[in-house]
Amino acid sequence: RSVGIGRAHAKAIVLGEHAVVYGAPAIALPVPQLTVTASAGWSCRGPDDLGDVSFTSTGSPSRPLMTQASASLRRLIAEFTTTMAVTDGPHLDILIDGAIPHGRGLGSSAAVARAVALALADLHGVRLAEHEAFDLVQTAENVAHGRSSGVDARTVGAPAPLLFQAGEAEELKPGCDGLFIVADSGVVGRTKDAVELLRAGFQRHPGAQDRFVGRATQLTDEARHALASGRPEELGSRLTDYHELLRAAGLSTQGIDALVEAALDAGSHGAKITGGGLGGCMIALARPEQAGEVTRRLHAAGAVQTWVVPLRGPAEGG
Ligand code: PMV
Repeated sequence: RSVGIGRAHAKAIVLGEHAVVYGAPAIALPVPQLTVTASAGWSCRGPDDLGDVSFTSTGSPSRPLMTQASASLRRLIAEFTTTMAVTDGPHLDILIDGAIPHGRGLGSSAAVARAVALALADLHGVRLAEHEAFDLVQTAENVAHGRSSGVDARTVGAPAPLLFQAGEAEELKPGCDGLFIVADSGVVGRTKDAVELLRAGFQRHPGAQDRFVGRATQLTDEARHALASGRPEELGSRLTDYHELLRAAGLSTQGIDALVEAALDAGSHGAKITGGGLGGCMIALARPEQAGEVTRRLHAAGAVQTWVVPLRGPAEGG
């Protein structure tokens, strides 16, 4: 083949972020309307370029990503070459096109890595098993973010909401309809700093880690049952409680708190920051008939972009 293509989508964490790093469960949602496509192909650029890779990104939201991502993607490509026992061509050109905003807790780096892994597999005519794709994305994620739980790597290729724990993922079947509204605060989040901030706090205060992880696990378990048995109000209230947990740990921002407040005032079932924090996005759960008003209020409170993600996809939604 002369060109290989791979695709992946964004994700939002519903509950469990940060605690998932310490082995607690997390619930994550695919965001299928935000996608990234990678194309991989060979070119001949002379002997100096042998075995080298060049990256090009199109679509402005992904452009800043490339300067930061090329080290992690190079590692992914090296790992792919070794584990799949394929031979390098003369010069690998990778084109990345996508609309997932970077640094907003929407899994842009994992989605780019998955798209590249799938494009390489397509180029070489090999089929990647799901665990092989996951391992390759994790290789890139660990370079980009330090230690990462793997929740992003799983969800950017998943067709349905997932319960993720200790590397394993299980598809969830929501028992009710509802819409998640994802709102971008416009401020780049800082996942690595947030993970470090929490870890430093746990080291200073004995018992804090157990309390945080215990409370997070309880809220995520309750939310999972509410989701399965179709109790959206209860699911929403766990979201808001989880926001309070993250806010108390210093991981929210004034801008995000204002968005959470606006979503609750507009009648959402619940709202919280999503992802690494210290900026980025928030999510609110609303009844379908409320979603328009919630979205309007979020924009009035400073959201720069919003996306509506149904709890159930069209196949189950009917
Ligand atoms: O900010 P994001 O989308 O990369 O989400 C990070 C989620 C954390 O739980 C904070 C870290 C992790 O590795 O799970």
